Amino acid sequence: MKQAKKYIIANWKSNKDTSEIITWFKSVSQLFIERKLKNLADFEIVICSTYIHIPLVKQQITSYQLPFKVGAQDISPYSNGAYTGEVSAIMVSEFAEYVIIGHSERRIYFHEDEDMLREKTQMGFSAGLKTIFCVSNNKAEIPPDVTIIAYEPIWAIGTGKTETPLNANEVARKIKNDNKVHIVIYGGSVNKDNICNFLTQKEIDGVLPGNASLDPNSFWEMIVNAASN
Ligand code: PGA
Repeated sequence: MKQAKKYIIANWKSNKDTSEIITWFKSVSQLFIERKLKNLADFEIVICSTYIHIPLVKQQITSYQLPFKVGAQDISPYSNGAYTGEVSAIMVSEFAEYVIIGHSERRIYFHEDEDMLREKTQMGFSAGLKTIFCVSNNKAEIPPDVTIIAYEPIWAIGTGKTETPLNANEVARKIKNDNKVHIVIYGGSVNKDNICNFLTQKEIDGVLPGNASLDPNSFWEMIVNAASN
């Protein structure tokens, strides 16, 4: 039986300007040229930048012919229209295939609640985006039509402390059991040294690294370690 793909989804958060993005892609593509990785087809690698940089990320991926997909970190709960400052799912879908919804930073700093997150998920689904819905435990409300669930304990985000792979696996199992989702990934201080501990768990279908995706070398080493496992 063919094994399902494993996801490596880089969440750049509110980081990087144009020149830093250009440098990042130059370095990563150089590393790809220097060392050909065999099992890359087993991975779905997604880069989630700020809205404003999504077209640039797409252009860089295309011009270096990297095996990466494009993602957004958020979308509006509304469609196109009189919603000043918002970026709709339809607009994002012109450039990106994936969107992160309900990251704990959005829930905490921007007060996004379950109703709003349901609207956002619905918008993403209607626009044909694959939604990566973040939850901090297996009891969280999960809207219908979510593509991927990211289990991210809040205390593990950006702290250097991770959930144990066994606990993360158990939470992933429960999420799959209680909801109609087949893909659950783990996020929270994932890096090159611990990525394989999570990817080798039966119920964990990928990872969502933040900090460790910002530096091209550290991102590349995560991919190398994952692919050589
Ligand atoms: P981190 O972030 O890898 O820096 O902990 C993960 C996330 O917030 O998605």
